[in-house]
Amino acid sequence: MCGIVGYVASENISDKARDVIIEGLARLEYRGYDSAGIALVEDSSIYCQKKEGRLDNLRSIISSHSSSARAGIGHTRWATHGGPTDENAHPHVSFDKRVALVHNGIIENYKDLANELAQKNILSLSETDSEVAVHHLALELEKDNDLFEAMRRLACKLEGSFTLVAIDSHNDGEIVAARRNSPLVVGIGEGAYYLGSDVAAFVGETRKALELGQDTVVRITPTDVDVVKFDGSKTQGTPFEVDWDLDAAGKGNFDTFMDKEIHEEPAAVRKTLTSRVDSANRLVLDELRIDESLLREVNRIIVVACGTASYAGHVAKYALEQWCRIPVEVELAHEFRYRECIVNEKTLVVAISQSGETMDTLMAIRHARENSSKVLAIVNTYGSTIARESDAVLYTHAGPEVAVASTKAFVAQITACYILGLYLAQVRECVSSETITNTLEELNKMPGRIEDVLACEDAVRSLARSMADVQSVLFLGRHVGFPVALEGALKLKELAYIHAEGFAAGELKHGPIALVEEDMPIFVIVPPVSEDVIHSKVISNVQEVRARGARVIAVAEENDLAVGNFVDEEYIVRVPSGVHALMMPLVTVIPLQIFACELARVKGYDVDKPRNLAKSVTVE
Ligand code: M6R
Repeated sequence: MCGIVGYVASENISDKARDVIIEGLARLEYRGYDSAGIALVEDSSIYCQKKEGRLDNLRSIISSHSSSARAGIGHTRWATHGGPTDENAHPHVSFDKRVALVHNGIIENYKDLANELAQKNILSLSETDSEVAVHHLALELEKDNDLFEAMRRLACKLEGSFTLVAIDSHNDGEIVAARRNSPLVVGIGEGAYYLGSDVAAFVGETRKALELGQDTVVRITPTDVDVVKFDGSKTQGTPFEVDWDLDAAGKGNFDTFMDKEIHEEPAAVRKTLTSRVDSANRLVLDELRIDESLLREVNRIIVVACGTASYAGHVAKYALEQWCRIPVEVELAHEFRYRECIVNEKTLVVAISQSGETMDTLMAIRHARENSSKVLAIVNTYGSTIARESDAVLYTHAGPEVAVASTKAFVAQITACYILGLYLAQVRECVSSETITNTLEELNKMPGRIEDVLACEDAVRSLARSMADVQSVLFLGRHVGFPVALEGALKLKELAYIHAEGFAAGELKHGPIALVEEDMPIFVIVPPVSEDVIHSKVISNVQEVRARGARVIAVAEENDLAVGNFVDEEYIVRVPSGVHALMMPLVTVIPLQIFACELARVKGYDVDKPRNLAKSVTVE
């Protein structure tokens, strides 16, 4: 939540700082889009502009302002304390106008800090928790004129989570920042250094970056970087090279990021599967840092995640239990965190996160580790906090996901979970090597199968357009189709703002069937025909809701003739036949994503930036 950019260069090329910051904000806008602002050091003073609403509002003000600044900061906001107004937008400027600051996170002791300021007659202009930080920073700066040291002292006073980035009007040759439980990376350019909530902020300028540890303060100058811990001791960042470029972070020829990312799903699965086996056809997960002997001892797995990532975990549960014969529970990270969980050194906690920055998931990880469990993270973002704080990491290689609604990350997460499941099965010798090889072969076919589904995209889009006025949609599934139903409903809620619910089809008669009324659209995820028992149960569920007037839209295999007896062909979305039952979610979820995307578009909503949401939920 909230995107932050910082830039300092050796030369003050006309408008460069302004443009780099605005471009960085554009690439971070998916993190929050309630307001945006920029502050530049110009002629030994702070030039600051901020505006409620989308970045374009700020752009229209700032584009006519010609700037010779070589240092500046920017912010795109997801509101926590105080509504999305101009006053509450960042940057905030100190009472003496010397310092400007941007903040991501929540300062929990802001009231105490505000009271201290009030005693000095320093009053906030905004309703935010962030503004107190800039005034305190200015007070600290008065003591020794050292912004780096002032930021360190300020960080020690704050409780909560924060990334703070500040500029000093008296010195345009440096920017300082501090981070605790909130993301920040450094970009290393030629004669310029950058700060960003993630590398997207500066990937157009440089792909060389530096990961920063927890509780660190950093100073960037045009040619160097210094990092200290909050206690003042010297430390360093960890260098890494960003493995994607500006094209990957752009929309290409697509209208929206979501469209592009849906079309990248075959590649996301393919790349996540790449280089996982050795010459003897054994799975090798070099990046894991957990000893195999510990994995053999595991007697329970708990998956922690939020939203779409948790549904990927629900899918994985079926495969992990089948292949590894270990009980698997899936917990929403925020629920796991605040209960007396029963875990120990034999529990493997698997944390799934696209961003690697979701605060709820991060807190669950810490909780699990404090309780002696090993944590294995499945993460898409290199160098993210969750990747750093886990005992082991398995990266999904989906590439940057920009649209707020998760799509390619979901299929990549399922793929990574399956690789993990097969690896555990191999280490624990609970399935034959032949089964592992065959299952991997099936997985390797999945990118092609997803492409086949994408080829039928137009039919799904026209179905969505014909349903533009629906008020409520239900989704039903069994077995791995159940989490797909939950995901289909989530996509529709977050993008099209209509009531949607996913149910286990077997649960229908225990209550939800009372919701069914004449012409209500119900998506049914039909299991493969080869799974005859659950297949026929789902066909019965189709009949039950049809008997009550529902309009069934079935997602079913090409060779599923039974479904055609009860659903009009125009309402059947066909997926390829012969897909391994556990891998069906990788194809059945695609039409649901396309449907939600198109329904949102036809209703005139912003597909990439749905209201009230942000891509990366970095506050609890
Ligand atoms: O970055 P994460 O995978 O940890 O994010 C978890 C959820 O916030 C995320 O999947 C969210 O539910 C998506 N917006 C759904 O499309």
